[in-house]
Amino acid sequence: MGNGISPRVPFNLATCVGTEREYVNAVLDGSHLSGDGPYTKACQALLEGALGVNKVLLTTNCTHALEMMPLILDIGAGDEVIMPSFTFVSTANAFVLQGAKPVFVDIRPDTMNIDERLIEAAITKRTKAIVVVHYAGVACDMDVISEIAHRHGIHLLEDNAHGLFGLYKGRPLGSIGTIAAQSFHETKNFTCGEGGALVLNDASLIETAEIVREKGTNRSRFYRGQIDKYSWVGKGSSYLPAELPAAYLLGQLEAKEHIQGRRAALWERYSERLAQWARLQGVQMPHIPSYATQSYHMFYLVLPSLTERQRFMAYLRERSINTAFHYVPLHQSEMARRLGAPPAQCPVTERISDRLVRLPFFTSMTAEQQNYVTDVITSFEVSA
Ligand SMILES: Cc1ncc(COP(=O)(O)O)c(C=O)c1O
Repeated sequence: MGNGISPRVPFNLATCVGTEREYVNAVLDGSHLSGDGPYTKACQALLEGALGVNKVLLTTNCTHALEMMPLILDIGAGDEVIMPSFTFVSTANAFVLQGAKPVFVDIRPDTMNIDERLIEAAITKRTKAIVVVHYAGVACDMDVISEIAHRHGIHLLEDNAHGLFGLYKGRPLGSIGTIAAQSFHETKNFTCGEGGALVLNDASLIETAEIVREKGTNRSRFYRGQIDKYSWVGKGSSYLPAELPAAYLLGQLEAKEHIQGRRAALWERYSERLAQWARLQGVQMPHIPSYATQSYHMFYLVLPSLTERQRFMAYLRERSINTAFHYVPLHQSEMARRLGAPPAQCPVTERISDRLVRLPFFTSMTAEQQNYVTDVITSFEVSA
């Protein structure tokens, strides 16, 4: 930096493209504030087109979209659901809330995704579903996992919180499993503060999903004029967002090319500027398998040890750069112990959780900010 004053580089700044304000104002000027108005419908239609799926339902957040999954698929007490230990608590809680048991499987050391080679050994006669998380928006090996799920007659579900517009062999993430969940939290590529979506790839589940989302009523059918009154027909809660966040989100979704283009350029720049330093220092960079087109959600590094990761984060913090570690292994959590889960062996999860660090990465990051971050990083030496 020119005057010797370091810029403060935040870890994240919410994406903002400008059109959000106009759309939010249009809602304020109109008369439809509650859910499922024109902006919700426009977001859903845009996502259905982009993902090539049967139905998208906006939800209040990704956690709620995940919570809808067991209610739609009737997964509950006595059932088991396989998932990576290296994920956000919501992936597990969604099923635990209905009495099902999470079964934690380790991740691959290259992509941080569930290790498909370990899934089969975790399947029992109580297994109802496998939930994959496309970590950092880089696809899991979906052909292998789909084949396992199909052979055992269990559901494949996608926690696609990170992966909107990422691809697996050309297929959009979120369009491969029976149901997928999306996040529009402010840390995500596309945001409305708190928001999410449920993606349905099986048309036969649409009506049940609508009922679950509308407090257990058939109000969606009533609004479409298919019935003359609505009533309580099943389990459900209130998972639909109001029009204000939907309007905000539409502005962002319509700017998909701009947002993804910016993020792709930033990601590639990090990769180019850090590759040599990482090689020399024994630092692991993200791996993108040839089958995957990533969603450019995050840029992370894996330091050689916990001590070095902590030293690295402190080094950057002292230079006004904020970084973040990520998931704490779920199989070692207090809640997993309370659930009486059999002790899972997830050594890769434990190692990665200690060593992974996420770099500042946001749509409006400037070249000046990124140069500063990479200059500071490449001046850091890993201790032998
Ligand atoms: C993998 C994963 N699933 C679910 C969530 C929850 O998303 P939300 O905050 O939209 O509920 C997160 C949060 O970042 C996440 O990382």
